[in-house]
Amino acid sequence: MALHDDFSRFSIELARQAGELLLEYRGKLRSVRYKSSRIDLVTEADIECQAFIVKQIRKEFPDHSILAEENPTGEEDSGHRWVIDPLDGTTNFVHGLPVFAVSIGLQIDGETCCGVVNNPAAGNCYHAIAGQGAFRNGQPIGVSKQKLLIQSLLVTGFPYVHDEKFHLSFELFHDFHNRVQGLRRFGAAALDFCYVASGQMDGFYEFNLKPWDVCAGALICREAGGKVTGWTGGKMPFQGTTVVASNGSIHREMLEILGQEKYSLFFS
Ligand code: IPD
Ligand code: CA
Ligand code: CA
Repeated sequence: MALHDDFSRFSIELARQAGELLLEYRGKLRSVRYKSSRIDLVTEADIECQAFIVKQIRKEFPDHSILAEENPTGEEDSGHRWVIDPLDGTTNFVHGLPVFAVSIGLQIDGETCCGVVNNPAAGNCYHAIAGQGAFRNGQPIGVSKQKLLIQSLLVTGFPYVHDEKFHLSFELFHDFHNRVQGLRRFGAAALDFCYVASGQMDGFYEFNLKPWDVCAGALICREAGGKVTGWTGGKMPFQGTTVVASNGSIHREMLEILGQEKYSLFFS
């Protein structure tokens, strides 16, 4: 759809410029503050990058609404809603690791129509338009063909809040580790989806994510031929409370592990 292409072009350019802004802050951070806990960081790069993105969207689409991590207060959904994580992987960014990204998704009437995840430090910009496939730096990407969980490489993540679910998630980690070839924790959920989308990882699961962590990445993964659901196999919750993304072939095996009775706490 022509309009979707226009939105997509706009968001790719925006994510590229935002990525440049993040690179300028690397190694020059003046303030690192805490949010929900002493491990939940926010820097001036997060704040400035979000301000830049929001300003450009307001200028171009004044009647669209915005849901962005650093001030997620209830703006009414006007039908066109931009869902933004200005810096996914803040902890990596603060420590000088190149695994961080700008994530921008656009939803129309609650469905994501285009998404971009730009990892400027690696020179990789992923994007997708609903129904038109997924791309890295403009080249089509696709999920892996791996059929067996035991030969799969998975990625996961952990929330900042260290509650009962967090503690139980290590038993889950252990369960998965016994059933796969390898299990990684990179620290940027938006990119985790893209690694599945590009076939580098075969699957990804996480809980307690947020809309801005999942909106763009989930579309990119689906458009690359992958499957994205919640942990019971139904539609992935927009809130990101439970997420499983895979190449499709290993999805059922992943859901079997996640759906065990002993993990019912994750669904409460
Ligand atoms: C975090 C990353 C991480 C995930 C956390 C997220 P942030 O986002 O995506 O991989 O495990 O749950 O909060 O704070 O770096 O934008
Ligand atoms: Ca994030
Ligand atoms: Ca963030």
